Amino acid sequence: MNTNSQAVNSNRKTKIFNHPERFVEGWYWAIPSNKLKKGKVKAITFMGKELAIYRGENGEVVAVDAYCPHMGAHLAEGKVEGNALRCFFHNWKFDTEGMCIDIPCLGEALPIKIKTYPTAEKYGMVWVWTGKIAQQTLPFVPELEHDECDGALGRYFEKNCHPNVVMVNAIDAHHFNTVHNFPVKIFFQKEDLNQNAITFSNTTRGGEDSIFLKFILPFYKEAVTYSMCYWYGSNGTVTVGPDFLHFHIMFALRMTEGGKTEGQTILITKKRKGLFGWIFNRVILWVTEIVGNYFAKGDTKIFQTIQFDLKTPIQADNSIMQFIHHTEKQKALVWGSWEEAQAIEKSALREAIRLQEAGKLKKQEQVQRWGDGD
Ligand code: FES
Ligand SMILES: [Fe+2]
Repeated sequence: MNTNSQAVNSNRKTKIFNHPERFVEGWYWAIPSNKLKKGKVKAITFMGKELAIYRGENGEVVAVDAYCPHMGAHLAEGKVEGNALRCFFHNWKFDTEGMCIDIPCLGEALPIKIKTYPTAEKYGMVWVWTGKIAQQTLPFVPELEHDECDGALGRYFEKNCHPNVVMVNAIDAHHFNTVHNFPVKIFFQKEDLNQNAITFSNTTRGGEDSIFLKFILPFYKEAVTYSMCYWYGSNGTVTVGPDFLHFHIMFALRMTEGGKTEGQTILITKKRKGLFGWIFNRVILWVTEIVGNYFAKGDTKIFQTIQFDLKTPIQADNSIMQFIHHTEKQKALVWGSWEEAQAIEKSALREAIRLQEAGKLKKQEQVQRWGDGD
């Protein structure tokens, strides 16, 4: 039997994957570093929450819930004082931990706190962790894990479908030929890097029928390098290129209202020393951008109109299924509130059981009353 035509189990009921109101707890891109100067505060809409994000005089970035705990003014209307943030409305002031440290008309502070979220900066981007304490590292390219990196921002983009759906496109080897005119045989091997990261690496030399492959194969000792590393189901890094020079492109995505996508490409290479190294890296990053744009081209139409539903998966969709399983195993948060989805679902279930029980009791009471001749 030809296994390529064999239908395999479907993954249609998902709790996180392609879900418009759930997402994986993790690091997501917030704002390009160069858009947040020292002493400035900005408003961002981030995974369903409104945040105020500012850079103190010490250069550190602080992300807080946007609405002032006094009367709800948007804190991005306020101003940065030293490393603290002062609300525009009645001038209450909050430190980097979110603690209230000054209420001018009282002459003292009150013991109240605004919620703050962990932040980090890498590749020219500010990242925010969608929880109280960061449990995992920022997304990285596995082969650059121990290197210092040089990065540049590529394009900002929006897509009309869920980030998970955009992500799986890169391991949908099935469409490389049909959409991208790239007649290459790719077979991915998956490996779990940690609970939130998974890699898919090509293990083949790509087939003999393509002129392009004949041209590039001398540059590869073994398999043609094409690997993806996914983080939190919404960030993906692609590594391509000949054995002597790899290019790395990160597609940093985050979900917007209604399960759509906004994203940013980030071009990454390892840091090289001296002026020559710096110039060399500018060229590498420029070439990386061209490679990245090539990847992004062609799928625009798909992302615009797809209603993702893997009704009939075949063997060729195996990597996509593995991605779905990996996404489903991660910790899910609720869009907007960032509460743990499982806790919410359990309490909803308890409430449903309680209502059912209450309904039963009522029915029993009625039957009893009828029995008593009421
Ligand atoms: S609303 Fe912020 S100080 Fe009053
Ligand atoms: Fe594609």
